[in-house]
Amino acid sequence: MPAATDTTRCITTPIFYVNDRPHIGHLYTSTVCDVYARFARLSGHEMFFLSGTDEHGVKVEKAAQARGITPKALADENSAEFRNALADFAITNDHFIRTTDPEHERQVQAFVAQLVKRGDIYLGEFEGWYDEGQEEYHTETKAKELGYVSPVSKKPLTRAKENNFYFRLSRFQKPLEAHFAANPKFVLPEARRNEVLGRLRDGLQDVPISRTNFTWGIPMPNDPKHVIYVWIDALFNYITALGLGEPPGNPLREQLQHFWPATYHVIGKEILWFHAVIWPAILMALDLPLPRCVYAHSFWISEGQKMSKSLGNFIDLAAINRYVSTYGLDAWRWYMITQGPLGATDANFSAQHFHEMYHADLVNTVGNCASRVTAMIGKYFDGVIPLAPGSAEGSARAGIDLPKSAAQAVARCTAAMDSFDLSTAAAEAIGLLRKVDAFINATEPFKVAKDPARKDELATILYQCAESVRIASLLLEPILITKMQEFWCAVSVPSASGGGGGFLPLAEAAKWGGLKPGTKVQKVALYPRI
Ligand code: MSP
Repeated sequence: MPAATDTTRCITTPIFYVNDRPHIGHLYTSTVCDVYARFARLSGHEMFFLSGTDEHGVKVEKAAQARGITPKALADENSAEFRNALADFAITNDHFIRTTDPEHERQVQAFVAQLVKRGDIYLGEFEGWYDEGQEEYHTETKAKELGYVSPVSKKPLTRAKENNFYFRLSRFQKPLEAHFAANPKFVLPEARRNEVLGRLRDGLQDVPISRTNFTWGIPMPNDPKHVIYVWIDALFNYITALGLGEPPGNPLREQLQHFWPATYHVIGKEILWFHAVIWPAILMALDLPLPRCVYAHSFWISEGQKMSKSLGNFIDLAAINRYVSTYGLDAWRWYMITQGPLGATDANFSAQHFHEMYHADLVNTVGNCASRVTAMIGKYFDGVIPLAPGSAEGSARAGIDLPKSAAQAVARCTAAMDSFDLSTAAAEAIGLLRKVDAFINATEPFKVAKDPARKDELATILYQCAESVRIASLLLEPILITKMQEFWCAVSVPSASGGGGGFLPLAEAAKWGGLKPGTKVQKVALYPRI
């Protein structure tokens, strides 16, 4: 299979359980992936962004029973909610996979059959501590550590015995250790990687991968009394969506297989073990390349506490929609990206902080800078970008070299996006606008304008400002998806995403000098004070 090339990128969200309703957790994971995907497309990469729903398992079966409908009907209903939520929030996933898709089910069975054939799946008896809510077994050591209660539901763990098919995870202890050693960025952030390494040192045991106590799942290909454990079924989504389990020549596979291995699997920290250990071991057993990086973010808490419906601090779609209708979609995305829990610690969502950040960053920096610059061009040059002699790099004024700062911002923002450090990427982009503000304060174009003999100087100052704002807007657009487009229209610049001149990859579009003298510019007012 051809490996992903330098120009392809593939990013995935976890697939969402259909026994829940969309909330900030789901939307957060999706938004960070979306920003990465949009930036990658803008940079000229061939991008595949995958999301979807996880629909099998005993929880869905029970929830459906309680409502007197079939599990499939329940899954259809809730999967549509997730799909609509992604669309409503302008998430640009290229595909939405459902684990009830026949293509997925067929491929999972084919993969599992391969694992059986290779001897990596065998029939055995299992006894352990079962967490019913989580559908997860714990080892004796772990169960003891947990005080024999579920860390999630707080209900007692039960001693359970099953005849199950097992995946020979123990066989992959050494290969996994070697992979971690050779790929220091395989799991990020670093704190999460260390957790996995710590657990790996305890030694790997084989894991049961089938169940017989319910039927809502994909049957084992060799013994249909067993259904495939929902986690194994779910993990396969990352490659069934690309057709890797289809026979050669299959159109889906031919079209998409080059996107594997994924550049980033973005997940929450509570599902790291499955992604960082079990999934890689399965891929090794199938001789498939491993994802380049499993990125495990932390959690949003709300107003200082764990989100909960009874505390009234739960951030569900209705709450999110209230923020979006008050402050706009850009503000929501900006807060997710700049204040979110991408690092190793949880992040606190606070209404007050949201309000403050919106005004500090979007109103007072992005909006203010764009309106100041466009207003001055309106006032002093009749709304037309002036010819500006000597405005290239090395033309520092008042100690600020805007062309150089712009080039640095592009390079640093791109590098940060590549390594999934989205808040640094955002800071680099908005930092350029702060430089423009400082430049205006230092060069005082409103004073220069009073002296007709200094017209060229005024032209150069304002050209440099406008060009820097244009470049910053390109870097910001993957986050600020609505207003940066509006800005492009107002300054009638050909933008990377088509604002007039067809597609130019970011590295070209963001080159100094892209803004041509003679271009008409309208004064903009992007972000209103709330
Ligand atoms: N179905 C599994 C994933 C299978 S992937 C092969 C699952 N689904 S989930 O719907 O429960 O969770 C989806 C994601 O939402 C997880 O990555 C989880 O970490 C994230 N979040 C849920 N609550 C969250 C917060 N409060 N904050 C941030 N993200 C959290 O797990």
